[in-house]
Amino acid sequence: MATSFSCSASTKLTWIFALLLILATMIQVRAQPPTAGFVNIDCGWTNSSAYIDNATRIVYRFDGESVEGGLSHEISEELMAGAANEQQKTLRSFPDGSRNCYTLTSIVGKKYLLRALFTYGNYDGLNKTMDGSPFLFGLHIGVNFWESVNLTNTDPSDTVWKEVITVAPSNAVSVCLINFGSGTPFISALELRPLEDTMYPFVNTSVSISNFQRFRFGNVTDPITRYPTDNYDRFWERWPDTSYPWINLNTNNKVESLDNVFNVPADILQKASTIDTNYSHMSVIVATGRNQDGKSLQLLPIFHFADINESNLSRRFDIYNAEGLLFPDFSPLRFQMVSKYKSGEFLHADAFFNLSKTPSSSLPPLINALEVYSLIRMDNLTTDSDDANYIKEVKTHYSLAQRNWNGDPCSPREYSWEGLTCDYSKSNQNPRIVTVNLSTSRLRGGFAISFMNMTSLENLDLSHNNLTGAIPDYQLQSLKFLDLSNNKLDGAIPDSILQRFQAGSLDLRLEGNPVCSNVKDTYCSKKKNTTSTVLIAVIVPVVLVSLLVVMGILWKLYREGKSGDDEDSAMYEEETPLHIDIRRFTYAELKHITNDFQSIVGKGGFGTVYHGTLENDDEVAVKVLMETSIAESTDFLPEVQTLSKVHHKNLVTLQGYCQNKKCLALVYDFMPRGNLQQLLRGGDYSLNWEQRLHIALDAAQGLEYLHELCTPSIVHRDVKTPNILLDKNLVGIISDFGLSRAFNDAHTHISTAAAAGTPGYIDPEYHASYQITVKTDVYSFGIVLLEIITGQPPLLMDPQTVHLPNWVRRKIAMGSIHDVVDKRLMDQYDASSLQSVVDLAMNCVENAAVDRPTMTVVATRLKGLLPAVSSEKQSVSATPRRTYSMDSEIPRQFQMMISGASNEGSSFQSGYTNGMSQMSLLSGR
Ligand SMILES: *[C@@H]1O[C@H](CO)[C@@H](O)[C@H](O)[C@H]1NC(C)=O
Ligand SMILES: *[C@@H]1O[C@H](CO)[C@@H](O)[C@H](O)[C@H]1NC(C)=O
Ligand SMILES: *[C@@H]1O[C@H](CO)[C@@H](O)[C@H](O)[C@H]1NC(C)=O
Ligand SMILES: *[C@@H]1O[C@H](CO)[C@@H](O)[C@H](O)[C@H]1NC(C)=O
Ligand SMILES: *[C@@H]1O[C@H](CO)[C@@H](O)[C@H](O)[C@H]1NC(C)=O
Ligand SMILES: *[C@@H]1O[C@H](CO)[C@@H](O)[C@H](O)[C@H]1NC(C)=O
Ligand SMILES: *[C@@H]1O[C@H](CO)[C@@H](O)[C@H](O)[C@H]1NC(C)=O
Repeated sequence: MATSFSCSASTKLTWIFALLLILATMIQVRAQPPTAGFVNIDCGWTNSSAYIDNATRIVYRFDGESVEGGLSHEISEELMAGAANEQQKTLRSFPDGSRNCYTLTSIVGKKYLLRALFTYGNYDGLNKTMDGSPFLFGLHIGVNFWESVNLTNTDPSDTVWKEVITVAPSNAVSVCLINFGSGTPFISALELRPLEDTMYPFVNTSVSISNFQRFRFGNVTDPITRYPTDNYDRFWERWPDTSYPWINLNTNNKVESLDNVFNVPADILQKASTIDTNYSHMSVIVATGRNQDGKSLQLLPIFHFADINESNLSRRFDIYNAEGLLFPDFSPLRFQMVSKYKSGEFLHADAFFNLSKTPSSSLPPLINALEVYSLIRMDNLTTDSDDANYIKEVKTHYSLAQRNWNGDPCSPREYSWEGLTCDYSKSNQNPRIVTVNLSTSRLRGGFAISFMNMTSLENLDLSHNNLTGAIPDYQLQSLKFLDLSNNKLDGAIPDSILQRFQAGSLDLRLEGNPVCSNVKDTYCSKKKNTTSTVLIAVIVPVVLVSLLVVMGILWKLYREGKSGDDEDSAMYEEETPLHIDIRRFTYAELKHITNDFQSIVGKGGFGTVYHGTLENDDEVAVKVLMETSIAESTDFLPEVQTLSKVHHKNLVTLQGYCQNKKCLALVYDFMPRGNLQQLLRGGDYSLNWEQRLHIALDAAQGLEYLHELCTPSIVHRDVKTPNILLDKNLVGIISDFGLSRAFNDAHTHISTAAAAGTPGYIDPEYHASYQITVKTDVYSFGIVLLEIITGQPPLLMDPQTVHLPNWVRRKIAMGSIHDVVDKRLMDQYDASSLQSVVDLAMNCVENAAVDRPTMTVVATRLKGLLPAVSSEKQSVSATPRRTYSMDSEIPRQFQMMISGASNEGSSFQSGYTNGMSQMSLLSGR
């Protein structure tokens, strides 16, 4: 992943810090800005007394109180002399454990800048950065992935830093080092800086940002500007190129900054870069470096401008990125700062920016500073805070520090504490601890009472330890299994436990304890191992079923081998005992009407769909079902018979079918406008608000018919946008109903867990009960409705999965309901109907089926929304669509720059960033 630059520390940082020292001494005359709230940790520093950093005058402390485990080291003797500061000289490495965390005290809900610094310094004498093998490890911020630190092929004296801006989720911020198996993770320093709440407003509890680039422009002496120039101690790198035709501007006049969003230091605003007036484009290209996987990042650029030229000539320019115009016709204000950014809008494009003079402008573009951040989604939930606190008490109680129990107990799942099992099944609730296994853990002393307050604990195994005393009076209702065997417990067994044991609700094991010396109850007798019986009970049927399946497949292959070469068998038609009113096609006919299966119009879960034309020129869609095994199922034809009787304007009409050994297909009316998913997320046609509501109503009416007017009700089971087709008038038509059932039932003898539906659309109650009801469809329809509103897929994958309803809830909680609306609507929608549709959708996706409305209610509510929208229509169509067409010259120029960057990149390399920042310049038109 992304961000940070690495710096050659020994030489360069030395004089950076020397310069800072001079600066600091100069500034000492004035008062330094406050460092209240700064947390400064020199990792691996063994002396518990704090020291004052010579350059910044900031007080650093040792890391003993913020971390468990790890080993302190000093960098190698020969690099020690070149170290620019004390923090570079020591570090803490973590050879044990896949995750090791630092915990820094913070104020809950406060925004912070957190920086981690890494100087390898060949501390272990293994020359790890230069030995040719990969050397990298990961960083987590809390329970979410932040980025990786890649030190492969770096000079051992280099310092790499990573910065994140985040909101403290509790009274502690944790940073974890993740062992990727490519070298021992280590860290040299950690710095936490409180920010104002107004700053970086797009950062909140669910969004953090990682620093990708932060530059200042103009003729700047310090390669890095930080505290005390910047009160918040951000690292601003000097823009590397100041040679002609770049021109540096500076002023001693005060530059006003009315903004409290970025609080850019005054010193930075008093300097700027522009270009010679013969030129009109200024390009700022920030190439991706070793730690930056630019393609997968989502970037947010923030530009800071203040015109510091005295002249009154006009200065106007457009700001482009590689994909198009970001900010048209911008004119910086004189001696006043303006920041340009799109709040919360992260771009998938690379960090290529072009400032391009507009034709009317007299002066070329100018820039003072640029920040680029990458998005970190903070989607992973932390463990239920009570559970977390109690298990931490257990850890303290039994002095379990050596177990490498640190960070969050359950989250992220792959780093959960060894011996714990957690319940993650409730997708928007914090994980709960259900099992604690501390068997054979050298526990001594009494039974930790904290276990008693863990309300979802079901299994507790403390066997084979040295626990003494009595079992406390344990009231826990959730506990099902308590293994205390082979300890030294000798107190009486409390009644509460005995009662639950006798009622059969608790499996108790106490054998091997002194208390059993005169008790003869079963919990005191050594039980025979039931696990093996269970295993036999599970394994034998599994093996048998597998054998049967294999034999079945072999038999089928054998039969096909005998008949398969025979082309004519394709023509063979079986008799069907059922009377079905629709046309039965032969394979040859299907081949003919689809022109030998030439034109594929879609591929779905059940097979491939081909375009076909009947003898009467009617267009049809021929769905050739993938699994021929269904042909042998007795469910297919009854299903076809049912479907052939379903007629509704919003349900696709089944024209015919084909069923025999070689052919299993359904023939439907052809829908020329494709499906709703394609219309919402692909292509060049964008549906307007009213069309969207109409399609939603169409689909709702189709489902209502299946649910209410068919007897017995037909549950679609796979309602999703790809199954909502559109005819030539954009009327929504539901397809694929009934099919899921035929398929799932056909397969029950192999796979009982065949899920109904598609991930993202599945009713949470279905997971619990495997019951399919009409409300299952209502849930899926709610997801469809949210897709219609937001244009987003049911599971957003950037960069990790979030379910659409949660995304919508979060957006609304963070900002306003308008933030959820599909950008393709260009703000053209009816705000009052928006609220109602979102409410309706959220109502449909209630966890409990009983809370969801019926499709009849849904259809009625949607119908109620439509007239109001119709009157809106005139204003919608009257508004010209904004176009973001780029200057025709520019794409080509970006092309040049991109290709140029790889060849000539090195000549533009900045000495301080190991080639991670580059600049280039285009000649004028
Ligand atoms: C600070 O500088 C002084 C003199 O230059 C030096 O003796 C001292 O060791 C330095 N302290 C640290 C913590 O670097
Ligand atoms: C580290 O390895 C590189 C490449 O193998 C070698 O050139 C260098 O001398 C080594 N440095 C040390 C201190 O061993
Ligand atoms: C969240 O947790 C999942 C499962 O443990 C993990 O795969 C994923 O990487 C985590 N996401 C982030 C952003 O860390
Ligand atoms: C930058 O400023 C210094 C003095 O502060 C001056 O000596 C130097 O020539 C300037 N360089 C450029 C490229 O303007
Ligand atoms: C780490 O950096 C090295 C050297 O720049 C590069 O070859 C490698 O691909 C990087 N690894 C990752 C995982 O980014
Ligand atoms: C458990 O909870 C009760 C009440 O909720 C509280 O009084 C008690 O102190 C808690 N016990 C522990 C060990 O935290
Ligand atoms: C219990 O303590 C004794 C003596 O301290 C020790 O020898 C024994 O190994 C311990 N047993 C377990 C199961 O930890």
